[in-house]
Amino acid sequence: MTEVVSSATASLAQRVRGDFPILAQRQNDKRLVYLDSAATGQKPRQVIDAVDDFLSNVNAPIHRSTYNLAERSTALFEGARERVAAFLGSTAEQTIFTRNATEAINLVAHAWGRDPGTGAIGPGDVVLVTEMEHHSNIVPWQMLCRDTGATLDYVQITPDGMLDLDDLNAKLAAGNVKLLAVVHVSNVVGTINDVAALTASAHAAGATVLVDGSQAVPQLPVDVAAIDADFYVWTGHKAYGPTGIGVLHGRRELLERMRPWLGGGDMIKTVGWDESTWNDLPWKFEAGTSAVAEAVGLGAAIDYMREIGVENIQAHEHALVEYAMARLPEVPGLSMIGPGAEHRGGLISFTLEGMHPHDIGELVGRDNVCVRTGHHCAQPLMRKLDLVATARASFACFNDIDDIDALVESLHRAREVFEL
Ligand SMILES: Cc1ncc(COP(=O)(O)O)c(C=O)c1O
Repeated sequence: MTEVVSSATASLAQRVRGDFPILAQRQNDKRLVYLDSAATGQKPRQVIDAVDDFLSNVNAPIHRSTYNLAERSTALFEGARERVAAFLGSTAEQTIFTRNATEAINLVAHAWGRDPGTGAIGPGDVVLVTEMEHHSNIVPWQMLCRDTGATLDYVQITPDGMLDLDDLNAKLAAGNVKLLAVVHVSNVVGTINDVAALTASAHAAGATVLVDGSQAVPQLPVDVAAIDADFYVWTGHKAYGPTGIGVLHGRRELLERMRPWLGGGDMIKTVGWDESTWNDLPWKFEAGTSAVAEAVGLGAAIDYMREIGVENIQAHEHALVEYAMARLPEVPGLSMIGPGAEHRGGLISFTLEGMHPHDIGELVGRDNVCVRTGHHCAQPLMRKLDLVATARASFACFNDIDDIDALVESLHRAREVFEL
């Protein structure tokens, strides 16, 4: 098993590791083992250079000025949007830059959910989320339901961390679900949801669908047209891009009907004393000065993933998950949370009997092994799983099985410190 996985993963990891300058650093003479890409991804040199080049050589206001530098700046910004859109099977008009996934979801909750013109959500309506959502895909809907008198409900998960489809179908059959908001890949249990099938079921029941693709875009081929959700959101910093940039892909008819959420510069066509008219898509939803350098960096991140091949990243992370799921149980008292490798993206949450996850994180951190610990911004899910916290190892294209070996060895050492 080790040899097979090793040859499958080593070539990609070896090819790309040198692209990530941060991986060269050492602590106490130990190399950096970064297993926290689900929290935030590391940036390849190509992304860092693109941002550096933009700020050093091109920086100028976009959209407004006509001199050469400004035209180049606008072209880089809009060019990044076009490449992002194409990568996900969308169009530039339907691809809105936000600050992150959280802001994209809030945009939908305000501009779609609270718009009296579209009358999207009201008393008696149900907003359906799932028990495996990140807080970003819960709290905006709690706030919307509180403001509108609608009800928030949760699709349950099964003990192995899959969505309970019987529960979903029963809830959809009630006929009052206005919105299904569902994660594509869970950041805690790692489950890959069949979001195209979920979208089809929700549409058949008359519901609008929002998919949170924050963990999916960095590791799976995503075709938003094929998924057919009304809204698909994700965040740049987990997908090898900079912080401060996220994306909302929306169904054109909905985006056209929706009012803007934020008002200000760039999102208008005309401004009178009392009234204004809105800019075309996508700028209608991009008020104020955009994160231009960050968008350029995101464009470079997309180029990077395209060059490696996101299918290769997916196969690579899958092989790492299979290897890790075989090796981690060697650590006595370790329990993995979530489904088998066949339904799982590139992450594994686990607990270790006799140790709090924060102690695990701190002790493996002494070996320069970086894992995330805590509730992973999913407190309702932790409650459902009857846990306060977990440790989580998550993978990227630069990880190799030696990173997992380092984690396993470090976990053994951590147990010794605790005299377990
Ligand atoms: C599944 C999921 N959704 C949403 C988010 C929020 O991302 P951001 O904080 O960049 O908006 C995260 C981040 O951890 C996530 O894992």
